Amino acid sequence: MGTRGRILVVACAAVAGLALMSSETIHAALTGEAAIKARQGAMKSNSKDMKVIQAFVKDGKGTAADVAKSATAIAATSEKIPSLFPKGSGRGDFPDKTTRALPEIWKDMAGFEKAAATTVAEAKKLATVAKAGDKDAIAKQVATLSKNGCGACHKTYRGERVK
Ligand code: HEC
Repeated sequence: MGTRGRILVVACAAVAGLALMSSETIHAALTGEAAIKARQGAMKSNSKDMKVIQAFVKDGKGTAADVAKSATAIAATSEKIPSLFPKGSGRGDFPDKTTRALPEIWKDMAGFEKAAATTVAEAKKLATVAKAGDKDAIAKQVATLSKNGCGACHKTYRGERVK
């Protein structure tokens, strides 16, 4: 739904003229906002887990077991990513300030799902490597997860942050 549609919803509600719009349309708009909040929360959780992992690799903080735990969490979170992007919840439907999800996601849902699946696979690999405890191998797999997982998806499907 574009800005015009959002204004329409507000206007409709204001005059209690909800019959002008189907209840499905209104429901979809609410679902879109909830999805945006949920996925931004999921991404924040990914980011928090990544920080735990980087702290070990870069600063020697924490343990390899912490890395394994965070990598497992990233895999679980990333498995849910595609379900948090219902149609009509990206830029073009919501203001650029509200979401950074690009229309490319819905033009190429198969590619987007693949980007999520790659992240899940690389995070699982990191959990396995971390359990073995070799710090160099961990660092190498962290770089792969970051570049081919999070980074690859963001490059194609996430827009610039706007204020
Ligand atoms: C399959 C695609 C995909 C993968 C994989 C992915 N992201 Fe994202 N990420 C996105 C998209 C799209 C957005 C924008 C969401 C929005 O604003 O609606 C985003 C937003 C974010 C944000 C900003 C959240 C906010 O508060 O606005 C952070 C931080 C982030 N991702 C971190 C990560 C990290 C770390 C990983 C890897 C562990 C990761 N992401 C994996 C697609 C992905």
